[in-house]
Amino acid sequence: MRMKVFVPRERDEGEPRVAASPDTVKKLKSFGVDVTVEAGAGLRSRIPDEAFAAVGATIGSSADAAGADVVLKVRRPEREELSGYRRGAAVIAIMDPYGRDDDVAAMADAGILAFAMEFMPRITRAQVMDVLSSQANLAGYQAVLDAASEYDRAFPMMMTAAGTVPAARVFVMGVGVAGLQAIATARRLGAVVTATDVRPATKEQVESLGAKFIAVEDDEFKAAETSGGYAKEMSAGYQAKQAELVAAHIAKQDIVITTALIPGRPAPRLVTRAMIETMKPGSVLVDLAVERGGNVEGAEAGKIVDAGPARIVGHLNVAGRIAATASLLYAKNVASFLETMIDKEAKALKIDFADDLVKATLLTRDGAVVHPNFAKAAPAPAAPTMVAADPGTAGDAPAAQTGEA
Ligand code: NAI
Repeated sequence: MRMKVFVPRERDEGEPRVAASPDTVKKLKSFGVDVTVEAGAGLRSRIPDEAFAAVGATIGSSADAAGADVVLKVRRPEREELSGYRRGAAVIAIMDPYGRDDDVAAMADAGILAFAMEFMPRITRAQVMDVLSSQANLAGYQAVLDAASEYDRAFPMMMTAAGTVPAARVFVMGVGVAGLQAIATARRLGAVVTATDVRPATKEQVESLGAKFIAVEDDEFKAAETSGGYAKEMSAGYQAKQAELVAAHIAKQDIVITTALIPGRPAPRLVTRAMIETMKPGSVLVDLAVERGGNVEGAEAGKIVDAGPARIVGHLNVAGRIAATASLLYAKNVASFLETMIDKEAKALKIDFADDLVKATLLTRDGAVVHPNFAKAAPAPAAPTMVAADPGTAGDAPAAQTGEA
């Protein structure tokens, strides 16, 4: 029997993206896979059903999930979706599992193989599957456009007969994937851009984009990057020096875009209300870290709020605000991962549980939570024998059994 992939319409109102594109459907079809797309799944990403049908997808309904070997999604499945899946089906999505132990346990109970795309290791082989990068890049771009549309002045310097318009001053805080794209985008719009980060490697990247780097460059800064390329939480002493520098700089800025994150920690607070009070009337702050607690004091998730002389933009799902592009890249990330699990001779799903990509992303299997980070969420009567039976996950099985207080 041919392998069946199902692509549902996302249930969350705030999620306009879709996990497949005509390109990825075509690719999967070329491996002998049957693809069914739920009617309307691509509409909010500007992909009509006909575009999926034209490359060989069957247009179906949510009931088709029951026959699928693989479900490709953007967000973690909701309970009613889970009840429609076949036990043993693989479900690939951005699972956002931290703090959602109940939802992770529900996926285990449903017997699915839940894969969290955001846990994909950042190694060369998996670059094409890196959803954090593909989506953060677009969020960084969109953040600048969101700032521009809230800003009642022009970005570029303009010399006109009626007078000279000064260029907007844009300050980007946090120069990872999103921050770098924000710098590039603001520069293209003609802004004068400065940027800061705690990782020394970013200095050269900022300068190569034509922006000015600003940071407290002490000994702690020189050691602030982890071997994985991420930031560490900085000491109170560093934070105080950083705040002083930021306070002096921010008073002269028109736009501030914050993207600072630390893996597994709340977002660092970088901009206080007192700093905002020193800004010019009509200044705009866009907080891309708002879903993780925010870099800007007073930022509210999903809202645009006025704060003294400035306005703070805290849109949720910023990549989803540029959904038609975001979906194409996300679909490619997901299909590339799925491709590694297809036996092209047998045209069947063949998951190698010893593969590093599988081990890093697999959350649930055979009724149990198998990811070491979520061992606690394992339902009490987890089935250790089923998990341990496979040598590939044997290492994870004990973890799934411990840590329960
Ligand atoms: P992220 O989203 O975790 O954080 C965004 C930025 O905030 C980082 O640059 C971080 O240093 C900065 N930050 C944290 N605390 C801060 C503070 N107190 N003040 C100022 N800035 C602060 O980072 P992202 O975008 O995921 O990138 C992390 C690293 O991963 C980078 O080195 C990037 O180049 C690397 N990367 C590697 C890839 C690969 O090898 N395949 C793919 C994508 C990114």
